[in-house]
Amino acid sequence: SDRPLIAPSILSADFSCLGEEVNSVEKAGAHLLHLDIMDGLFVPNLTFGPLVISALRPHTSLPFDVHLMIIHPERYIKDFAEAGADLICIHAEATPHLHRAITQIKEQEKLAGVSLNPHTPLEVLDYVLDLLDFVLIMTVNPGFGGQKFIPQCLPKIERLKNILIKRGLPTLIEVDGGINSKTALSVLQAGADILVAGSAIFGQEDYQKAISALKSPT
Ligand code: DX5
Ligand code: ZN
Repeated sequence: SDRPLIAPSILSADFSCLGEEVNSVEKAGAHLLHLDIMDGLFVPNLTFGPLVISALRPHTSLPFDVHLMIIHPERYIKDFAEAGADLICIHAEATPHLHRAITQIKEQEKLAGVSLNPHTPLEVLDYVLDLLDFVLIMTVNPGFGGQKFIPQCLPKIERLKNILIKRGLPTLIEVDGGINSKTALSVLQAGADILVAGSAIFGQEDYQKAISALKSPT
């Protein structure tokens, strides 16, 4: 089947050979490449910007799933779109003008997503949900790879799934943080369509085995 879609997060990859790492997960069966952008303000960590994304772009045909953990993301949407992003996700907590920022992503003709931190209620999406291609439910506090899955987020995924069904929306549910072969099953049963995984893929010897385990967890 075509579900779940697997999006390896390069946050846990070997940054001294990112091009090869990206090739390896593509060959190993990944569907998307998840790119974590951190500004040291919205989250207590720094990563990379559009330069790295445009450098990776010719190395893979995987769609680029860009997760912006930056305040006032509207400042950089155009830059990330031009660097090669296919999906762009902003945090609801990072801008008072969520609707405007979503509109800007759509103006760039990219798939638009909004991410919610573990404590952020689904209700912030009530009046923008029909504009979104996907919602990213964080199951850790963003900022670092390798953290423990927060189980309190499971009912949130279930509730979102029910809301989407009730409203007849095709919006995909992406889940990010602490996803591994043990937590994947519950997240998929709750309604997730896209699984992000950093350490559970790049922390393993065999990427193909790691990705297969996430595609059909037991
Ligand atoms: C965390 C990032 C995640 C991170 C996930 O802030 O948004 O994408 O890479 O890492 P794991 O899968 O190791 O929890
Ligand atoms: Zn992420």
